Amino acid sequence: MYNIGEEEIKAIAGVIRSGKLFRYGEGDQCLTFEKRYADYLGAKYFRLTCSGSYALHAAIVGLGIGPGDEVIVPAHTYMATATSVLTAGAIPVVTDVDESITMDPDALEDAVGPQTKAVIPVHIWGASCNMDAIMSVATKHNLLVIEDTCQGIGGGYEGRMLGTIGHAGAYSFNYFKNIGAGEGGGVVINDAALDKRIACAIDPCHYYWTGRTEDFMPFASNGARASEIMGAVLNTQLDRLPEMMAAMWAEKNQILANTRHLDNLGLKPTPMNSPNYECGTHVMYTMPTVEVADKFVEVMPSVIAGKTGRHTYTEWDQILIGEGAAHPLMNPYKMDANQKCRRTVTKDMLPRSLDILGRTVMIPTDPCHSEEQIGKMIRNIEVAARYAFGEMTSSEIESRMAEFKDADKIDSRKYDTDVAAYGLGQQVETPATL
Ligand SMILES: Cc1ncc(COP(=O)(O)O)c(C=O)c1O
Repeated sequence: MYNIGEEEIKAIAGVIRSGKLFRYGEGDQCLTFEKRYADYLGAKYFRLTCSGSYALHAAIVGLGIGPGDEVIVPAHTYMATATSVLTAGAIPVVTDVDESITMDPDALEDAVGPQTKAVIPVHIWGASCNMDAIMSVATKHNLLVIEDTCQGIGGGYEGRMLGTIGHAGAYSFNYFKNIGAGEGGGVVINDAALDKRIACAIDPCHYYWTGRTEDFMPFASNGARASEIMGAVLNTQLDRLPEMMAAMWAEKNQILANTRHLDNLGLKPTPMNSPNYECGTHVMYTMPTVEVADKFVEVMPSVIAGKTGRHTYTEWDQILIGEGAAHPLMNPYKMDANQKCRRTVTKDMLPRSLDILGRTVMIPTDPCHSEEQIGKMIRNIEVAARYAFGEMTSSEIESRMAEFKDADKIDSRKYDTDVAAYGLGQQVETPATL
C-alpha cells in the first residue's frame, strides 16, 4: 500500500458516522467495491474477504478441490499459496520458476501427475506469469487454474487483467500490496454457480443475509467476511490505483532505459513475460552469479528474491515438516485420500530455482518517488553495478553514490527459521515420486 491519507480518513469517518458497519443490510461500501473492482478487472463477480490467504482458500474450495488432489505451486511465492491448498485438504506440489521468477511452464508440464487437479501460478512481485503457456498446459491436462494475484493488483498480461485469465483469481489487500486496507482480500470469478460457492466459503451463513436459492447447496466453512470499513478504504484506494500504476510503470521504464548501457557490463534486466502490462512495482535484474548479486545489494538498497526470508519453498516450515493441519486427523499429508499424492518437499529439491532466485535482485518503485529521487536511484544502480562487476572498488563507492536509500516497499524483514528448530524433521513417511 503506497498512498493513504485524508481521503481514507473521510471514508472511514463516513462509515462510522452512518453507524452502518456491517456489510449486509444497510451497508453498501463492500458491495460497491465488489462491483467496481469486478468492472475494473473486466470480470463478472468479485467477493471480498478478510485476507489474501482466505481468498486463496475460498477459491480452492469453491472450485471443488480437496482430498485426493494435487495442486501445483511455484517454488517462489508467499507460503499462503501452498498452505491454502492444505487447508482445503489437498496437497501442494512445488515446481520450478524460470528466470522471470514466476512458474516455469515447462516445469509445470513435467510436474503434472495422475492426481494433479489444479495449478496456482503466482504473479509474484507484480511480475506476470507466462499465462498463455500455463493455460495451454492446463487445457491439455484438464487442470483448474487459480491465479494468485495477491501481489499483482493493477497489473495485466498482454492486455488482460491479472487474475481474470484462469478459472479464478485471488487478491490480497494487506498492508504490503498495491492497494490495501491494512488487511483484506477477495476472489474474482466469472461463473455464477462457483461464485455462490465462494460466497459460502467466505460466510457459511451468507444466504441468510442475501437470500436462499434452490439451486445452491451450502457447506460448512469458516467466517471471513469483510467489514464496511475495509470496503470504504478500498473504494478510496481504487480511485488512486490508475494513477499509481502509471507512476510505477513510468519509473520502471525510466530506470530500465537509463541503465540499458550497463548491459555490456553484465547488468541484465530480468526477462518479463508481459513487460508492458506487469505491475512495475519492481525493477529486476538477473545477475550472472550469486556473488555479483550479493555485492550489488551491499551497495544499492534492493533485495535478492531468494533472500526475503519467506518467499521461497525452503522457508515454508509447515510444508517441509508435513504439518498440514492443527489436528493430526485433519492433516492432509496423513489422509488416506492423499496417499497417492506426492507429499514430500525437501529443501534441496529445486536447485535451479534456488540458483535463479539467488541471482535476481529487485529494486522497488514507488509512485511517490520524485524525479530527483529516481535520478539518484539510477545513479546508485550504476555505482552498485560497477562495484558488483568489479569495475569500482569499495573505497570509491561513497564518493560516487547519490544520497538516497529506500527499499522499504519490499517487506524484507527476516523471520528465518530452520525446520530443525522444531525437532520434528520430515514427518511425511512416503517418499515422493517426483
Ligand atoms: C503471493 C501471495 N499470496 C498470498 C498472500 C496472502 O495474503 P494475506 O497476507 O492477505 O493473507 C500474499 C501476502 O503477502 C502473497 O504475497
